[in-house]
Amino acid sequence: MRKRVCVANWKMHKTNAQAASFVERFMQLVPSVPDSVELVICPPFTALHTVAASLSAAQGPNGRVKLGAQNMHWEASGAFTGEISAAMLLEIGVQYVILGHSERRQYFCETDETVRLKTAAALSSGLTPIVAVGESLELRHEGRTHSHVCAQTLGALAGLEPDQVAKLVIAYEPIWAIGTGQNCDPAEANAVMREIRGCVEPLQRVPILYGGSVKPDNIANYTALSDIDGGLVGGASLDAEGFAALAAAAAQREAS
Ligand code: PGA
Repeated sequence: MRKRVCVANWKMHKTNAQAASFVERFMQLVPSVPDSVELVICPPFTALHTVAASLSAAQGPNGRVKLGAQNMHWEASGAFTGEISAAMLLEIGVQYVILGHSERRQYFCETDETVRLKTAAALSSGLTPIVAVGESLELRHEGRTHSHVCAQTLGALAGLEPDQVAKLVIAYEPIWAIGTGQNCDPAEANAVMREIRGCVEPLQRVPILYGGSVKPDNIANYTALSDIDGGLVGGASLDAEGFAALAAAAAQREAS
């Protein structure tokens, strides 16, 4: 059975002080989340160290709440002002990294090629990439959702060995559903995710997460379906109570 995963993508939110108080409260709530759900918190770069220290104070090393970053560069080091390498992330305890989020593609010129380079670099350094794919409203209206997300997925995976692909997490996030409160119909999302899973064989075994306006009261409608293994959560992950409730609901295998 595939792992269930709920990822908090804080985007450009929370100072160090705010991040530390989130972790303090969230750790009190973690026992309410079934063990079957892996929990990952992705703060902005400036708060990674604080969250790492707060997590390890609360749960010791190798606890169940994992740390993730929201981006990284594919080179190991060099003259890349403003960038962060895999080694820098690993040193402070990061285990996951979101790659190719639509906001990075839209505002910061990420392409399938840069996502591919980052995915390969993350895997070879031992980080677990959470590769994000998703279509715009325009592509959806043109009936090109499936071909677009499959092209993005295959672009990110090009050149990887099957055993590397099996280590990924994929997130399907329709762009028009992100932060808009306009959810994708769960059955439609499930169909797209099944299509993604069919792109290459090892994806049958990897967690594929849905993202786009998920909330504690709608996540179970997604995770009840065959190909949806959890959520990549923006707005609803900023509040400790809300994210814990959402993760607990994501454990359900039947619609609420
Ligand atoms: P949202 O964001 O939950 O606020 O829609 C999801 C994401 O962009 O990862």
